[in-house]
Amino acid sequence: MSRSDNTTDHLHLINHPLVQHKLTLMRQKDASTYSFRTLLNEVSMLMAYEVTRDMPMQDVEIETPLEKMTARMIDGKKLVFVSILRAGTGILDGMLSVVPGARVGHIGLYRDPKTLQAVEYYFKMPKDTQERDVVVVDPMLATGNSAVAAIQRVKALKPKSIKFVCLLTCPEGIATLRKSHPDVEIYTAAVDRQLNDHGYILPGLGDAGDRIFGTQ
Ligand code: URA
Repeated sequence: MSRSDNTTDHLHLINHPLVQHKLTLMRQKDASTYSFRTLLNEVSMLMAYEVTRDMPMQDVEIETPLEKMTARMIDGKKLVFVSILRAGTGILDGMLSVVPGARVGHIGLYRDPKTLQAVEYYFKMPKDTQERDVVVVDPMLATGNSAVAAIQRVKALKPKSIKFVCLLTCPEGIATLRKSHPDVEIYTAAVDRQLNDHGYILPGLGDAGDRIFGTQ
């Protein structure tokens, strides 16, 4: 494998030392809200490099101060980052600092605490989503129910492609997402051991939303 990540069957494990180091700092229970948020921002920039690695390029003619040359630029309409609220915001900010021209969509979903099913309360996407590649972001792919529901809504708009980026996942989340959307590639920094009865990833990092926003 020539790439810096481990890629098997539509799962890209981003095992770059910087990503792994920062993730370990984030997992620690005494990491402050500020430090958790800053680290997530940094990791998200690094994950953006991986998820955009295969973006189509085109040759353009430019002039340097010394001479003309043919140089490479990203081709055509570009990306839509879709943040699953609220925790997706933590990844979105980092990704936008690397791809500032990307459009942004939002999907508001909450997890019914009894059924663990996703309930939608907000949906807003760019008008020209059909002409763009979509990257759906959420720090935790846990039960997979929110990701499945979000991707279903996005698919109805017929974008050119859809990828899913999370910081952390587990075998159950991957299986659920694969079952409903086998065509969607998953990018993650870690696959943890398991899901507990409350839908939390073990060993995980706790509630990503609460840790980003300091609400617990
Ligand atoms: N959402 C979280 O924030 N953490 C988990 O472990 C699972 C879902």
